[in-house]
Order: sequence, then structure tokens, then C-alpha cells
Amino acid sequence: MTDQCRIVIKGGKVVNEDRSETADVLLEDGLIQAVGPNLQVPPGTRVIDACGKLVLPGGIDTHTHMELAFMGTVAVDDFHTGTKAAVAGGTTMILDFVIPQKGASLLKAYERWRSTADPKVCCDYSLHVAVTWWDDTVKKEMEMLVRERGVNSFKMFMAYKDVFMLRDHELYAAFSHCKEIGAIAQVHAENGDLIAEGAKKILSLGITGPEGHELCRPEEVEAEATQRAITIAHSVNCPLYVVHVMSKSAAKVVANARRNGRVVFGEPIAAGLGTDGTHYWNKDWAHAAGFVMGPPLRPDPSTPGYLMDLLANDDLNLTGTDNCTFSVCQKALGKDDFTKIPNGVNGVEDRMSVIWEKGVHSGKMDENRFVAVTSSNAAKIFNLYPQKGRIAKGSDADLVIWDPTATRLISTKTHHQAVDYNIFEGMVCHGVPLVTISGGRVVYEGGRVLAEPGTGRFIPRKPYAEFVYKRIKQREEVRKPSAVARKPYSGEVMSLASNR
Ligand code: URP
Ligand code: ZN
Ligand code: ZN
Ligand code: ZN
Repeated sequence: MTDQCRIVIKGGKVVNEDRSETADVLLEDGLIQAVGPNLQVPPGTRVIDACGKLVLPGGIDTHTHMELAFMGTVAVDDFHTGTKAAVAGGTTMILDFVIPQKGASLLKAYERWRSTADPKVCCDYSLHVAVTWWDDTVKKEMEMLVRERGVNSFKMFMAYKDVFMLRDHELYAAFSHCKEIGAIAQVHAENGDLIAEGAKKILSLGITGPEGHELCRPEEVEAEATQRAITIAHSVNCPLYVVHVMSKSAAKVVANARRNGRVVFGEPIAAGLGTDGTHYWNKDWAHAAGFVMGPPLRPDPSTPGYLMDLLANDDLNLTGTDNCTFSVCQKALGKDDFTKIPNGVNGVEDRMSVIWEKGVHSGKMDENRFVAVTSSNAAKIFNLYPQKGRIAKGSDADLVIWDPTATRLISTKTHHQAVDYNIFEGMVCHGVPLVTISGGRVVYEGGRVLAEPGTGRFIPRKPYAEFVYKRIKQREEVRKPSAVARKPYSGEVMSLASNR
């Protein structure tokens, strides 16, 4: 009998973010025990032949919203179907968002998310927490989340006016506090006031369909907020992470800031890299509504290629999906008014293949950069490295055996997600996960998901990720403003009273 808990992956090309080598990988007790050529295979070990294939660190999806209650309904992919789909696509960890209502306790929301996710997850996960309002209790709860609950990232919304949006002075306070407690500030960067005004204007013109969603929030609405967030974060020396960078304009803002030395990271998502906003003008309402998300996909068809170019050269840094799925009947809540279409798209299952196709197969990035942008950089930024994001002795046994030459057709008919459409429908991708291993267990093989709900773990994260905070700490030391030493002014001071 073979011991399913001990696995050797034989003869594959092991790809890390910095190098590739042909090697065997021995897995036991949920960890990678050895990586090297011609490893001895202990009796009873399951041997998986990976000759001619790549062995990659499992994907880390930095941005999901499983079963999020949003815009009057609940996202249809829950932590079970969502993580099943993840492992079927070669992703072995997701980072989901706890989003408390304004005025609600962050800690209670976090506990609720944990008890919802823990029994359902088929792979490891971790949680970002959103700050949707501001006062001293929020401040204290952020501290507790960092110290006691394994959270090191907080998301602030600059959009969704009156729902989740923070004003600039609140962003300033929240970013300052993130810096104090060693967390990274994340922003949904869109100008919520301009969106609210723009939506009224577009509706008044009689435009009620999904195209109105993009028309009321053009690229500059995203770019302006991105620049504003970077300015506020820099003013308090806080590291910033811009989630779902969707436009060329916003991507240029992030790239310029990085080139000017700002500690900022940009996250394009599978949707923005793999498809575009021309679909909002499709004559079929349901088709068009399926692509509605915020910030919107952009109608400029050169956008996905441009975002991929920036991702390839590290102007943008890593990828998520913003997987937040609503089926067609849920999208139809907005059939007469685009502002009521629940915002969100799929991606958690297809991210790896879409990025391989558009990034590696196209020749824009190599296999090592693929690993960086789908796994290692996420692990570094969120302080999980090298537990995650690397194939090395001692790292978690989260891997995917990847066939770079095989192709697969993306379709609702075959995907593992609960949602009833797929924004990548009909896309043929090179780059196919053959076997996914999570925590040392085979969770996907031969086209079948083998993972059981509740087998994934919550992974706590410590503050002050070195990859992010080394520069921040040094700047804090050496860039403190200081007063000029001078003799006190002793001349005449005008009298304001006598000037009246
Ligand atoms: O449309 C989106 N992005 N839905 C999920 C919530 C968010 O803004 O990330
Ligand atoms: Zn968002
Ligand atoms: Zn279309
Ligand atoms: Zn999101």
C-alpha cells in the first residue's frame, strides 16, 4: 500500500521565482522535505511522474470575495465551491476580505468570516480586513487583529459612497495607523463622489444598461484616486497596495510612483489581464452585465496587453482575481438600472491559465516571472514567504504540476465554480494544471477535485513583512524632519490690532 501522505514528484522542472532546475520533490507531513536530483524514494511512497512538466509553487490568489453579501444579494461561490475551483486551477491559497458594515465591529466581522470559512475551505486561506469607518474603537480593533488574529493588511475603499467609502482625513488616519502597527494599507482606488455624480448624469441621459457602469466612471476616476491614495500614504510613510488596477491610466500612476521611489504595489487581476470592457456594449444584456465590476474593465482593447507588459517588468507586481461571483438572475437586479447590478466577476479558477496564456505563452514573461506574479510576490508582501510561494525544504507542500504545452478551453460547462457564466468563456489557454497538491495532499488530479471541505487551514500572518517594511523603517529613521537651529527673532512684530 502506498502512503498517500508521502509523495515524491519525480523528474519535473522545479520552477521558483529566481531559477528553474530539474529535480525531485519529496513531500511528507504537509511540508516539502527535500528538493534535489534523484532523491531516494522510501518504500510506500506515492510517486508522481512529472517528466516534461513544470512543478510550480501553488498559486496564491490575493483577492477574493467568497459568499460576500453585497448590493442586496450574496456572491454565489462560497468558501467551498470557491476553493474547489481554486485548486482545480492550480491555486492553493486565497486571501479573502472581511468587510464589516459601517459602524460594525471589525473583530466580530472577522470571527464571523472565520467561522463561515473554516469548515468549508479546500485549501489554505488568510484574511484581509476592510476599514469602512473610523474612530478609536476601529483603531484598537486593528491592533488586536494584528497582534492576536494574524491579520497584516487592511483595505480602505475610496468608492461605494455612503456604504464603504472613507474620506481623505479618514484615509490619512487609517494609513498612519497601518504604518504604526506594521500592516500594509490596501485601497480600492476610485473617486466615489465622481461616480455618484456620474451615475446620475448617465441615467438622466436615458442610459440604463451595463455600458452606463463604465461611462460614469472613466479611467481618470480610477487614476485620480490612485494618485491621491499614493500621496496620502507617502505623507505618512505607509506602504500601499492598490487592489484591482484596471486601467492603463491607473497603472501608469502606480508605475510612476514606483519609479519615484514610493513603496507601492499594484495588483492587476485575471479579468483585467484576460478580457476587456468592450463587452459592456454587447447587445445581449445578460452577457454585458456579467462583466460589471468596480473599477470597470476598460473599453480600450489594448488595456490587457498593457497591464501584462507592466506586470512582466515589475511596474505592477502580483495578481489576484477579485473573484466575487453573481449569477445572471442576481445581476438582473439591475436590469433597468446599471447602478443596481451587483458588482463582481469570476477568476479564481482561471487566473493561472489566463496569465500563462497572455503572459508566458505570448512571450512577455518567463516561467520564473510567472511564479513571482502568481505566488511568490504575494507571499513576500503578505509575510508568508518562504512558508508559501517557494519550492524549498521546509516550505508548505503546496504545489502544482503544470503542463505548459497542453491547452484547455474555458467554459461554464466545465468550470467548478457555482456561477452560471464565465467571463473567459471560449478562451483557449496554454498552461494546464495536471495535479494540485495542497498541504501535502493531492486535491486535484485527472480533472477531478479530490479536496474535502474544511481541510484547508487559516494561515495567520505576522506584521512588518520585511519585503515591505525594511525600506519603511529605514526611511522613518533617516527622513525625520528636523527644525533649523537659529537664534530667536528679536526684531519688531507688527501688531494685528493696530492694523485694523
Ligand atoms: O466589483 C467588485 N470589485 N466587487 C467586489 C468588491 C470590491 O470592490 O472589491
Ligand atoms: Zn474593490
Ligand atoms: Zn462579449
Ligand atoms: Zn474586491
